[in-house]
Amino acid sequence: MRGVGAIGNMLQFARDPIGYVTKVFERFGPIALMVRAPTSISNPGPGWGSGQLRTAEGKGVVLVNGAEANREVLMAHDRYHMIALTGRLYPTEQEQDVSERRKPLLRTMTGLFHINGNEHRRGRRLLMPAFYKTRIDAYRDDMLALTDEMLGRWKKGETRDVHGDMTELTLRIATKTLFGEDERERGVRLSRLMQAWLEIMMSPFQLIPQGDWPGTPRRRFLDLTREIDLETATIVRNKRARASGDAKDMLSMLIAARDEDGSLLDEDELIGHAGTIFAAGHETSTNALAWTYLLLSQHPAVMHDLEDELDGVLRGAPPTVEDLAKLPFLDAVVKESLRILPPVPMHPRIVAEDHTLMGHFLPAGSELFISIFHMHRDPDVFPSPDIFSPKRWETAKPTVFEYNPFSAGPRMCIGASFATMEIKLVLATMMQRFRLELPARSRVDHRVAISMAPSGGLRMTIRDRHESVKQSRVSGKVRSLVKLAD
Ligand code: HEM
Repeated sequence: MRGVGAIGNMLQFARDPIGYVTKVFERFGPIALMVRAPTSISNPGPGWGSGQLRTAEGKGVVLVNGAEANREVLMAHDRYHMIALTGRLYPTEQEQDVSERRKPLLRTMTGLFHINGNEHRRGRRLLMPAFYKTRIDAYRDDMLALTDEMLGRWKKGETRDVHGDMTELTLRIATKTLFGEDERERGVRLSRLMQAWLEIMMSPFQLIPQGDWPGTPRRRFLDLTREIDLETATIVRNKRARASGDAKDMLSMLIAARDEDGSLLDEDELIGHAGTIFAAGHETSTNALAWTYLLLSQHPAVMHDLEDELDGVLRGAPPTVEDLAKLPFLDAVVKESLRILPPVPMHPRIVAEDHTLMGHFLPAGSELFISIFHMHRDPDVFPSPDIFSPKRWETAKPTVFEYNPFSAGPRMCIGASFATMEIKLVLATMMQRFRLELPARSRVDHRVAISMAPSGGLRMTIRDRHESVKQSRVSGKVRSLVKLAD
């Protein structure tokens, strides 16, 4: 926006990405320049990644929305690159001597998110078999056992932070399925470190130039990066030392994976991929589950219809993978929840070569944010888009560029089937046992740190499955995202 300068715009974006971007699109249309360089959100400068990029100077940060832009940007894999999650601090190829403090940035939380071009194609080839449906289906028993364990601790009448419970649950599922039985405690520690790391990464403090001085966010960020690197490296080394052919966990599969030319993933690649899959693989599902429960608490008729479907098909038994195909309303509820409150509301790209997008020239090095949230609110594709209405999926047939909570194209979320199965199994199991009620006068705000979460958790009261629940009015910023009853 004019009048507040580059830093002012970026601070507004960092404080409330969705609110800010909504205003920009309303005022300037589906492609808008947020910041004119030299200031940049995350471009670390010359030669980043593939060596194809030029200096960040003179480039801007562009916000993009719409199916046409999605198709162009998401499919042109070699033209639109991914930005390293570590952003501005990521060492450039020109840097001869990367300091010891910044070295862990070269491999930690890099994985698929960081690589581009042929390196990314190779990464996807090697990782994909671990995400095949038959492999994923084998995690059903773990998912159900861990959900049962959590529900065993719940007491009727108590009010709990359900977002915290979902975090714990998806974290345990991710630890078990990715790292195997033996790394539970290290997995918990790793997740805490990653959450703190992501919060600093996404905070406006990151944008303020600063040194690696005591007490600064940068010092804390680099400390956390080193700790995450050490924890992940230990898990990878332990697993390699104990490698066994019949292990079911994903990390064992990645260790054994061989490319067409017989090459394996080296230790740095394993550390990068394992950390990224772990980080990407639980917070998103946590938020999807928490948002779905919030939406159900505000739409009792939907909750009852879903319970009826679960009772009719499952008859009180735990859901099997085959059952999921017989639960179309569960599918519609999950789809609609991911549409209206997408756990990843927008995602970044960096332009790798000079290019014109929808009539706008984008020099190499320009940064882009593509909005999933705003695409999902196109009234031509989703009539009354601010209303949570799972029934719309009886007729809605959007293309992958119109509805894409997991993105689309060569970089589409590799864990989409895993996440969908996990969310459905957990929801079906919980809803067979309990109802969750939002306490009177609840306030729910959202925060975005790559993933969109209810800020400060989501407190809900546990009720018996057959108890009637009250629908109380929720206040807070979530009301700016979805239309809820007054
Ligand atoms: C509801 C849950 C989830 C949502 C909404 C979600 C969404 C996304 C989105 C939007 C992307 C970005 C793609 C792009 O930049 O175009 C992505 C990438 C990714 N996701 Fe997910 N995700 C979820 C769960 C998972 C799970 C469970 C895993 C792993 C077990 C996972 C692993 C990844 C990885 C590794 C990538 C990078 C893919 C690449 O660049 O090739 N995600 N996800």
